[in-house]
This record gives sequence, structure tokens and C-alpha cells, in this order.
Amino acid sequence: MPLLGVNIDHVATIRQARRTIEPDPVWAAALAELGGADSITVHLREDRRHIQDRDLRLLCETVHSGINLELACEDEVVGIACELKPLQATLVPEKREEVTTEGGLDVLGGGKRVAEAVRRMQDAGIVVSLFIDPDPRQIEASCKLGVTAVELHTGRYADAPSATRPQELETLQQASQLVLEQGMRLHAGHGLTYRNVIPVATIPGMYELNIGHSIVSRAVLVGFQQAVREMKELISSGTPA
Ligand code: PXP
Repeated sequence: MPLLGVNIDHVATIRQARRTIEPDPVWAAALAELGGADSITVHLREDRRHIQDRDLRLLCETVHSGINLELACEDEVVGIACELKPLQATLVPEKREEVTTEGGLDVLGGGKRVAEAVRRMQDAGIVVSLFIDPDPRQIEASCKLGVTAVELHTGRYADAPSATRPQELETLQQASQLVLEQGMRLHAGHGLTYRNVIPVATIPGMYELNIGHSIVSRAVLVGFQQAVREMKELISSGTPA
């Protein structure tokens, strides 16, 4: 059964809509852990549109399960990661104008920048994962950097109409096999929901899923702890909701 990393960025998105103090992502993290989250994921974006430095600092002090920090290969945020030392860091591409992380990191074309960010964080004792498209060339380039894990971008699968979804799933399955053959840990995320998660959760060797928007959306209606518990039970059962 894959581990569940709960991404709480959008709790902070609601707070930042009013630039106020609620809802507090630190509280949401505690409830997510009570609901069975195996880790808490946050993305410290360069523009600080949701998670703030204060959130990350407090989360690093209060979260018991472990923080997975998503970040771009930018000097400033890599420095913050090295100082706060979350359990894991996932390098992602970042564009100012995007609504969410749109594609995987170009490890192949990213050359020195990616390698340098990986090295700095590994030297600080952080487990490093790279968020990449399910593309064999990106997987092989990631392996060459000596990272512990890669997170396969599931956005194309999640967004595909039902006619082409099986094809996108097969691409993910083949990429997953290659990740395991290359000796890396297999993570996946982006666009996963209560309705589409099972085929990804049951890919052999899947180690960790990172899910945010769908859980936060359900939490608005049923509460954070229950929303996380429902996702955790779904993934453990391996059967569609
Ligand atoms: N994994 C990564 C690397 C992401 O950037 C995101 C979005 O912040 C997620 C997982 C979660 O995606 P979603 O919010 O669509 O579940």
C-alpha cells in the first residue's frame, strides 16, 4: 500500500485570499496526521502565494510524520530547505504565471542547476525526489543524479478523457517499471482524486502518493480529518470508490 502525503497548500490559499490568519495550515497538518497522513507536503513558491516561511518553520517543528517540501531549483528556497532540513524535498519546475505545477522538471535540460540543488540538499541530509513527466529520458537523467526517488506527474492521466485514459495509465505503468529498475523509489502525484486514484495506487511498487486539491476540497465539506481518513482507506482497499 502506498504512503499518503497530504498536500496542504490550498489551506494556505484560502487564508491568503484574505491575507488573514485563518485557516491555519499548521492546524490542518495536525488534523491530516490524525486522519492517517503519512507525511505532509507543502510547496514554498518563490512568489509565496500560499505557504509562507512562517508556515514551513512551524510545520518543521510540529509535524511528527515528516515534511515533504516541494521547491524550485532556486538558490533562496534551496537555502531555506538546507537550514530547516525537512525529511524530504521534491524539486519541481515553477513558473510565476501558472495556476499549479504544470509539467515535470526538465532534468535532462536542467543540467548543472538541478544537479547543484540536489547536491546541496543531499549534503544537508535531506532525501531528494524529482517531480518529472513519465518519460524514460527524464527517468534515466534523474537516476544519474543519484536521487532517492522520482515523483511521476500524473496530470496527463488525471486530465485525460475516458477514451485516452487507459493509454495514459499505461505510460505511467511503464515509466513506473523503469523507475524501479533504475533503483529509485516510486512516487506519483498531481490531479489525483477519490475517483481516479486507485489505478495509480495499485501500480506495483508505488511507494508514495502526494495528493492535495481533492482532499482539501472534500475537507471543506466533511472536515480535514475525515477527508484524509477516506483517502487513506480508499488507497488501502485498492478498490474504486
Ligand atoms: N505533487 C507535486 C509535485 C505537486 O506540485 C502537486 C501540486 O502542488 C501535487 C503533487 C498535488 O497535486 P494536487 O493538488 O492536484 O493533488
